[in-house]
Amino acid sequence: MTHTVPDAPELELHRLMNLHDIETEGQARLSVNALEYYRSGANDGHTLRGNQVAFTRLHLRPRMLVDVSHVKLETTVLGLPISMPIGAAPSAFHGLAHLEAELGTAQATQAAQTVMTLSTLSNTPIEAVSGRTGGRLWFQLYLYRDRERARALIQRAQAAGARALVLTVDAPELGRREANERLGFSLPPHLEAPNVGTREELARLEGSGSHLTRYFAGLMDASLNWRDLEWLRTVTDLPIVLKGILTGEDAALGVEHGAAAIWVSNHGGRQLDTAVPGIEALSEVVDAVAGRAEVYLDGGVRRGTDVLKALSLGARAVFLGRPVLYGLACGGAAGVERVLALIREELRLAMVLSGQTDVQKLSEKLVQWGR
Ligand SMILES: Cc1cc2nc3c(=O)[nH]c(=O)nc-3n(C[C@H](O)[C@H](O)[C@H](O)COP(=O)(O)O)c2cc1C
Repeated sequence: MTHTVPDAPELELHRLMNLHDIETEGQARLSVNALEYYRSGANDGHTLRGNQVAFTRLHLRPRMLVDVSHVKLETTVLGLPISMPIGAAPSAFHGLAHLEAELGTAQATQAAQTVMTLSTLSNTPIEAVSGRTGGRLWFQLYLYRDRERARALIQRAQAAGARALVLTVDAPELGRREANERLGFSLPPHLEAPNVGTREELARLEGSGSHLTRYFAGLMDASLNWRDLEWLRTVTDLPIVLKGILTGEDAALGVEHGAAAIWVSNHGGRQLDTAVPGIEALSEVVDAVAGRAEVYLDGGVRRGTDVLKALSLGARAVFLGRPVLYGLACGGAAGVERVLALIREELRLAMVLSGQTDVQKLSEKLVQWGR
């Protein structure tokens, strides 16, 4: 198995017309190890596919004869001004896609003036990334069993200028991504996970199977529960975003426990297979939150119309997972910039064609579920 990113000729990014083109080209540029890690879903991949399919079941009810000569895409997330309601979701190991790794993603989100969520499992330390995001950095937290280690990581994120903590709650253990297990996914020797541990700690994982799964199992806290949220709030005054909520019940509990935002997600279909697609879970979460917190969504967002539908159902912003990684593989920061520019323009056009002028003034009247 090769661990290196192949030396492919430089792409003419402007020829890539949409996020599907970027996925195809990006995938062609990845090593087998990276490709399987990025594209895989849990088990049979029902939720992985369902995330995209569900958007096609939701139809738009466009309005006509509205003056759409000016369309406003700017918004805020937790008070942070962003140029459009689309940010980068946290994903591990950007170094598998491109040598620029998380610095490339940061540069692109800074250029697009939107928010980047840095994964606990990044290949670049928080401190290095934060300077490149134009102050629009959120830090995704996997809560370690070792609370002192967790506290130190949170303090590092805060000191580095992260503006929110995104606590991932759908991964008490990793879902079973069988393609990774077959291949025995491992982090290539030239990459590190500096927010997590030293190269020596990672090196202790030699053996067969997915090293990542075992490493994770050693670090993660499967006992994580609502009481830990209270602990978390004593450690930091950063706003806490709960990522991985799929029900109204949990959304309500999250708000009661002080979450500033609820991020509807099934982890890109990588955790519980057959879990509900995010876009189908969105309305009940929005209803349960009842304006007491912001609501975001990720999972299968590939088109401007997907963004428009999620916002119409009450999401304040959406986040892109794999498209960012494939953009990175296509050309580092320039590839991610292309992803963000394409979907931004698609959203603008979708608004124009459906008679909408402001992303903050969309209503559920714009959509209907197909019968
Ligand atoms: C390769 C990969 C790595 C990921 N790593 C993380 C992670 O470290 N932390 C996390 O909270 N979510 C992680 N996710 C989930 C994403 O944040 C996001 O929920 C998901 O990718 C959205 O779906 P999409 O890929 O269809 O856009 C990862 C997803 C992928 C594809």
